[in-house]
Amino acid sequence: MINQKKSQLVKIKASSWKLKKFQSAWAKDLENGKVLYIEGLKFEITQNEKKFFSPSVLNKKSRNISLDSKGILKGANGSENDIKELSALITRFREDAKSLIFSAFPKYKKYLKLAPTSFRPMDVSIRVTSWRADDKRLHVDSFPSRPNYGERILRVFVNVSPNDQPRVWRIGEPFEDIASRYIDNIKPYSRLQAKLINFLGVTKSFRSKYDHLMLGLHDAMKSDLTYQKNAPQITVPFKPGAVWICFSDQAAHAVMSGQYMMEQTFHLPPSKQYFREKSPLEVLRKLTGEKLI
Ligand code: SIN
Ligand code: FE
Repeated sequence: MINQKKSQLVKIKASSWKLKKFQSAWAKDLENGKVLYIEGLKFEITQNEKKFFSPSVLNKKSRNISLDSKGILKGANGSENDIKELSALITRFREDAKSLIFSAFPKYKKYLKLAPTSFRPMDVSIRVTSWRADDKRLHVDSFPSRPNYGERILRVFVNVSPNDQPRVWRIGEPFEDIASRYIDNIKPYSRLQAKLINFLGVTKSFRSKYDHLMLGLHDAMKSDLTYQKNAPQITVPFKPGAVWICFSDQAAHAVMSGQYMMEQTFHLPPSKQYFREKSPLEVLRKLTGEKLI
């Protein structure tokens, strides 16, 4: 671990996906933008399910396999029965992820929106993408076509590698530091342009100034190779079986290697956090003195 004053990674132990009580320390760390590495949770893969651990399970046109909130599986190859079995496997993880988040952070429960659950069978280190889509570069999550008006992106990950292969992440500096480093370099926001790209269907809804700034931070980090190399960061190998959670719109992260992971995303209004002043929306509001949405 290098050059990190206060670690952005917190290691904790748990023996069940359903925790007995609210974890105030977890909530504080999570909302401070740390990555919580949870050891001791079990996610079993049956003998029969081992057949899904091959890149050929992924449809060539798709980046990941995903199960939407209606239970429809997208991006997978296989017979009708395979699809049923694979959906059941991903659903099992979804239910575990829900138990974990609902029991650890009960205040969120009523307000969380479930996003698709993904299964990522590709080897990360050989993927070729544009710099902007390259998740091997440190970034905070922000999606060009999907403005979210400050809604939080909470993610639960599990390394399901059957080959003893860790999923190796880099975790960067606190969000406040990233925001103050880059905010003045982001090109000015234009409502007119936001209207135009919405009209053209480039964005699914009107891109707010908040979304413009978040995308600006995402792009500024990813395009800055000196930053990628020299920014405060740690490298963390998440072992097979490891579960980790973070607000990925706040915790700077990059994935360097690994294969076979599942991930569940939830969306949460920042007003429903335990400490709302820690949200990217509030941090950016403070820095700009503007409402942003
Ligand atoms: C990302 O969210 O940037 C990728 C994480 C991963 O695939 O491990
Ligand atoms: Fe990401």
